[in-house]
Amino acid sequence: MKRFITMMLMALPVLMNAQESIDQRVEDILGKMTIEDKIGQLNQLDGRRDIEAIKQEVREGTLGSIMNIVDPAVTDELQRIAIEESPSGIPLLFARDVVHGFNTVLPIPLGMAASWDRELIEAAARNTALEATEKGIRWAFAPMMDIARDPRWGRIAESFGEDTYMAGALATAVVRGYQGEDLSDPTSMAACAKHFVGYGDAEGGRDYNTTFIPPRTLRDVYLPPFKACVDEGCASIMTSFNDNDGLPSTGNRWLLTELLREQWGFEGVVVSDWGSVAGLIPHGVSPDKRDAAKQCIIAGCDMDMSSKSYLLHMKDLIEKGEVDMAVLDEAVRRVLRLKVQLGLFNHPYARKAAQSDIYSEPVLETACKLAEESIVLLKNEGSLPFGESVRKVLIVGPMADAPYDQMGTWTLDGDKTHTVTPIMALREGWADKVEIEYIPCLTHPRDKSDAEFKKIAKAARKADVVVAFVGEEQMMSGEAHSLSSLDLQGAQAEMLEVLAETETPLVTVFMAGRPLTIGRQVEISDAVLYAWHPGTMGGKALANILFGVTNPSGKLPVTFPRNVGQIPIYYNHKHTSHKAKGTEGNLDNIPREAAQSVMGHTSSYLDVAPTPLFHFGYGLSFTNFELSDIVLETKEVQADGYIRASVVVTNTGSREGTEVVQFYTGRKTASVTQPMKELKDFKRVTLAPGESRKVEFEVPVSRLAFHNRDLILGIEKGNYTLTIGTDSQSGLRTYFKITE
Ligand code: NOJ
Repeated sequence: MKRFITMMLMALPVLMNAQESIDQRVEDILGKMTIEDKIGQLNQLDGRRDIEAIKQEVREGTLGSIMNIVDPAVTDELQRIAIEESPSGIPLLFARDVVHGFNTVLPIPLGMAASWDRELIEAAARNTALEATEKGIRWAFAPMMDIARDPRWGRIAESFGEDTYMAGALATAVVRGYQGEDLSDPTSMAACAKHFVGYGDAEGGRDYNTTFIPPRTLRDVYLPPFKACVDEGCASIMTSFNDNDGLPSTGNRWLLTELLREQWGFEGVVVSDWGSVAGLIPHGVSPDKRDAAKQCIIAGCDMDMSSKSYLLHMKDLIEKGEVDMAVLDEAVRRVLRLKVQLGLFNHPYARKAAQSDIYSEPVLETACKLAEESIVLLKNEGSLPFGESVRKVLIVGPMADAPYDQMGTWTLDGDKTHTVTPIMALREGWADKVEIEYIPCLTHPRDKSDAEFKKIAKAARKADVVVAFVGEEQMMSGEAHSLSSLDLQGAQAEMLEVLAETETPLVTVFMAGRPLTIGRQVEISDAVLYAWHPGTMGGKALANILFGVTNPSGKLPVTFPRNVGQIPIYYNHKHTSHKAKGTEGNLDNIPREAAQSVMGHTSSYLDVAPTPLFHFGYGLSFTNFELSDIVLETKEVQADGYIRASVVVTNTGSREGTEVVQFYTGRKTASVTQPMKELKDFKRVTLAPGESRKVEFEVPVSRLAFHNRDLILGIEKGNYTLTIGTDSQSGLRTYFKITE
């Protein structure tokens, strides 16, 4: 039968309407499948096991998809077995967590987000697809678009930060980059929007923890990036591990069927997260795998990643009439459709590139550009970029030469021998221009030794500038790597104090998977760069910025708290009845035994300022920008119209630079309480010194929709503010009205 299927598929008339042709192919295949064939298609297992056992499973037709095999010789051999020896002859789909780059590692997604550059992210994602498809991978478990407002959560590194619009805008860029123009192109990979939904709101920032996101917030804050990906044609969606308000996502029929498919019209594949079908058991809503399989397939989860619950129990469930054959068929249809769309029946084997794209020059160059754009200049009192007077540079710190750590979490395929660390880039590109001395001082970020403190102090006194590379290891962020303290680890803080005391200008560069609580270190540094985990080319990107070859343009995609007690803290919080006031909380200012009311009644802290250390959207440049002339095309817009506005941006400094112009709307009075302001668009603009340019926005009013008292999505008429700025806390403001 298998050969018959393949031949028949190839013979289908090419002139047939594409969708009809795909559907027809799927029906033809489905019609010839046994119940065992069907169940096998819904089973996805890890490939990091005994290869002979896997071959046997493929031969028997019990696997639809395999994860984590990246040797094309092996994927091709398994594929051959699937096509030639399995009962149905249906090709396998090879999947991998291709999260930020493949072999060439891009900045962690939180770093990518700091670039606010949709086009560059898309281009870098395209390169990633070129690398991954060479290894036989056609399904990438990314982008991740969980809204992350708690930096204790290790997976904040993997997110695009705290903002809903931004997460959707950047996730769709990744979807376009991975999927390319046409999924059937051998260089395209199916993207997977994850984790559906609410996973980033884990209580206490502890990974996998329960969430309680109320219905309106779920719809207005957490769901829109997924809807944006569905509208972009994202081929698949992964459920999340968490339960929200009592319902684990993988068994949530409202989420996976009523909302995703019936309301949003999603036609792709829903895959569970790892073991999350059987996860219903520890969650406590299923007694066993059989029941879990039943709940999840009925909920709309098509593919069971890793738990084998479908494989072991679906046949019995169907035979006993507990699950309808139609439900099983629908899930299989979706998996088959994806395989047909990917062209797996026509070109099932790993792409053979005439010239490999892996670690190729153009791929590395794009990675370097993205790393440059992801770096945020948080402070600069004039030490950067290095000028003529800098002759001798002292490089210190555990992250100056940490090729593994700077790649960040989820770098399954990045090879650290390809990493360019800061010290490598500085020596390679600048050693003939300045004298570079390098004393690591600490072997890694958790190193507590003070043995070299005297040595670095002495060397610092002799240098024109000190650059300290500090931060956190790759292992400190990512899945199941949450922290309760965000302070610098080991003796890094003490090391910086020693350097600051020397009074030689101190430039501190942070490499980390999340915002750290760095108030004191910022205070004692003359300049501060936040580089996240910048990936393979991070060192070169940083060297280019230190020497002014590149002018930094990164802006924070997430709020930096002053301390952990401020978390969760994010820019688009709600208006409250008692606004936060005051700039600093200070226990010393509190009178003894005074009346309770002397402190006033504000939404503040007694012991710390209510404001963050750095707010969303913030980031400096080596030049200065000014905004002027905010103009709205019309002050009244209709609900189905567009907000057309412009602002003039001027580079008032003496270097070329790029500014990220941010478009925020807000309203005070509505049927339900509103965020102070919300990002609705952004644009990057590069200007020569002295140059001015009008930056124009055209934002559909529909982007301002929210769920009203009856949980109905709509636009409410009335008065709105528009703020166009260069961060979330400043800018030029005007007003407009939405009419019917
Ligand atoms: C678990 C993670 O939550 C998910 O993001 C990932 O894609 C899967 N494991 C597969 O590795």
